[in-house]
Amino acid sequence: MNVLIYGATGGIGQAVCQALIKRHANLFVLGRSSAKLKSLQERLNLKKEQVFQVGPLCDPTQFKKVQNWIKSQSTPFQTGIHMAGMPLFKKLANVSLEEWNQVMDINLTSAFCFYRLFHLARDQKGYELVFLSSASTSQTWMKNGLYGASKAGLDYFAKTLQTEVKHENGRVWLYKPGSVNTDFFKQTKSHLPPNKMIDPEELAEIIAQNLLIPKINYFPEIVIRGD
Ligand SMILES: NC(=O)c1ccc[n+]([C@@H]2O[C@H](COP(=O)([O-])OP(=O)(O)OC[C@H]3O[C@@H](n4cnc5c(N)ncnc54)[C@H](OP(=O)(O)O)[C@@H]3O)[C@@H](O)[C@H]2O)c1
Repeated sequence: MNVLIYGATGGIGQAVCQALIKRHANLFVLGRSSAKLKSLQERLNLKKEQVFQVGPLCDPTQFKKVQNWIKSQSTPFQTGIHMAGMPLFKKLANVSLEEWNQVMDINLTSAFCFYRLFHLARDQKGYELVFLSSASTSQTWMKNGLYGASKAGLDYFAKTLQTEVKHENGRVWLYKPGSVNTDFFKQTKSHLPPNKMIDPEELAEIIAQNLLIPKINYFPEIVIRGD
């Protein structure tokens, strides 16, 4: 299984990479930080051509760069996993336009860009796409207006995508975890102590194992809570 991943350097991303490698997947990793990619490449024993450093995917020049890299690979991808994202929890009155655009770009628009890039090299026989949303979109929370809006947008995008890709044997997975114990909460406060959060390795095992389930024609939207 060839897997294209964006967000592999994060806490959930690294755990998912390990879980996939255990299942003999061939990983191709996109990320923004050369140093983090190099260290991931060494830890996972990936070849140089399996990692690609790129600036913001929503920037047309960077998008084109990845487009060319994907075309040069001539690898058909059976799986695409988008796990890049950032939190920002503030009252909407305190969110600047710059912050709004930054969070929307990485949490929502980059998922669309990632899909368009994956589409170029998707396996014509069928494929899996995985997106990471959030359990927090099931209700409104103070200070979650921006993050929640970006993830609610992702929910709608992923659900619509499922209806569009079904005819070519594509399947979309939308995971909506509660708090996961990663560096995500180094940047922001959580209502849960780390020991009550979801373990990233356990979440990764679920994500990797589910990919092996034979294709079924319903939308797999999965809420996972640790509390
Ligand atoms: N942790 C949670 O409680 C939780 C709960 C529900 C959903 N999620 C979602 O799960 C996904 C992974 O979260 P995580 O816990 O693994 O977080 P994390 O450890 O902070 O990792 C975030 C990942 O996103 C990448 N990223 C962030 N901002 C970026 C940007 N502007 N451009 C390019 N890449 C960027 C990071 O790249 P660098 O390594 O280069 O920084 C990293 O690979 C996110 O979409 C998050 O919203 C997390």
